[in-house]
Amino acid sequence: MKAVVWHGIGDIRLDEVSDPTIIEPTDAVVRITRSAICGTDLHFVRGTMAPMNEGTILGHEAVGVVMEVGDDVRGFSAGDRVVINSTVSCGTCRYCREGKTAQCDVANPNGPDAGTCFFGGPASTGPVNGLQAEQVRVPFAQNTMHRLPDTVSDEQGILLSDIFPTGWFGAELAGVKRGDVVAVFGAGVVGQFAIASAFKQGAGRVIVVDHDETRLAMALAQNAEVVNFDTEDPVETIKHLTAGVGVDAVIDAVGVDAQHATQGPAAPDDATAAEFAAEVEQVAPDAAPQGDQWVPGNAPSQALRWAVEVVAKYGRIGVIGVYSPTMASFPFGEAMLKNLTIRMGNCDHHSVTPPLIDLVASGRFDPTAFITEREGITSAIEAYEAFDRREAGWTKVELIAG
Ligand SMILES: NC(=O)c1ccc[n+]([C@@H]2O[C@H](COP(=O)([O-])OP(=O)(O)OC[C@H]3O[C@@H](n4cnc5c(N)ncnc54)[C@H](O)[C@@H]3O)[C@@H](O)[C@H]2O)c1
Ligand SMILES: [Zn+2]
Ligand SMILES: [Zn+2]
Repeated sequence: MKAVVWHGIGDIRLDEVSDPTIIEPTDAVVRITRSAICGTDLHFVRGTMAPMNEGTILGHEAVGVVMEVGDDVRGFSAGDRVVINSTVSCGTCRYCREGKTAQCDVANPNGPDAGTCFFGGPASTGPVNGLQAEQVRVPFAQNTMHRLPDTVSDEQGILLSDIFPTGWFGAELAGVKRGDVVAVFGAGVVGQFAIASAFKQGAGRVIVVDHDETRLAMALAQNAEVVNFDTEDPVETIKHLTAGVGVDAVIDAVGVDAQHATQGPAAPDDATAAEFAAEVEQVAPDAAPQGDQWVPGNAPSQALRWAVEVVAKYGRIGVIGVYSPTMASFPFGEAMLKNLTIRMGNCDHHSVTPPLIDLVASGRFDPTAFITEREGITSAIEAYEAFDRREAGWTKVELIAG
């Protein structure tokens, strides 16, 4: 079968690989009908989330049809249409029983302290072969998949694999409640779902910061208030828009590939630029940009620094942007002196997703407007390259099988 395979930083290929099979009785094999490229995948190719194992199949977002299940998978059978959770979880351990499935004690073969196990990730996450393929072996399938009702299309389902649950989880981490003024950093597709989720969880206002005008336009279409950090200082603007108080809650939907302003009043001074350069060296020592391709973000802590500055005293910050273990910069003292609450992590997909499937199935929320590109799996590498170069309009790429 065909699959997108990681060979090195800046080197991914569409390879012919062997079909997956059932190995454990808790496995299923699923024929993928739709997968997608995520901002998380870009960290692996840019070298900001290392180390990866050569030969790992990428991708952690998919819908498909069950082909075969192991003896211990009792809730699914061949022919079921499913959405696959990005994160793998056993369904049995203490964490899974509390719904904290991103910290499952069992799924990660590196042991209970190794953190989240997810498809197509670095060595420390399994690694488990990913979903940008024609078929996949799903470990702990009973807990790692959800059946899709007929009223949810594949096109809708693909956004329930990771992105919508993650945006929802981000608003929960930030403790969004009725009336809150919320800032979302990052207007990529995760940021878009964070905006939608913040409003659905009761936010009175959502202010969004990015510098990509097409993405800011999508945020505006959701009734968010938009701030371009290349033309104005987001800290000053958000203070101004909130009568000097700041926002109640912030969602970081940027992560380790954050960028600083390259022009305008928010551009860093020389000392701050040097700090950012040192952070890039720390998180991406082996980055291998090729011209404007696979370039790591130039300011890993920029979104977090702004988050701490724009939030009100006693404010809350929810971090869903992904940071690597080597990321050690955070304005801790400033946060402490404001009595902030900061929560973070990978989404607990298994427990977060079911009500969101219902929301889409009911017809009350159609997430498909956020898919901007539809490509065949055979065009996956070109699609990765365009998405990585942040080409205008390329906000979310869906890969269609066949
Ligand atoms: N926690 C989870 O479970 C989870 C799941 C999925 C994705 N993620 C993470 O969410 C993040 C966003 O994913 P995506 O697919 O939307 O990625 P993306 O790369 O498409 O979007 C990131 C956006 O952030 C913007 N940005 C860069 N620097 C910024 C700054 N300083 N301030 C404000 N905006 C800035 C970029 O212009 C871009 O629009 C990634 O880090 C991804 O790994 C986390
Ligand atoms: Zn994803
Ligand atoms: Zn578990």
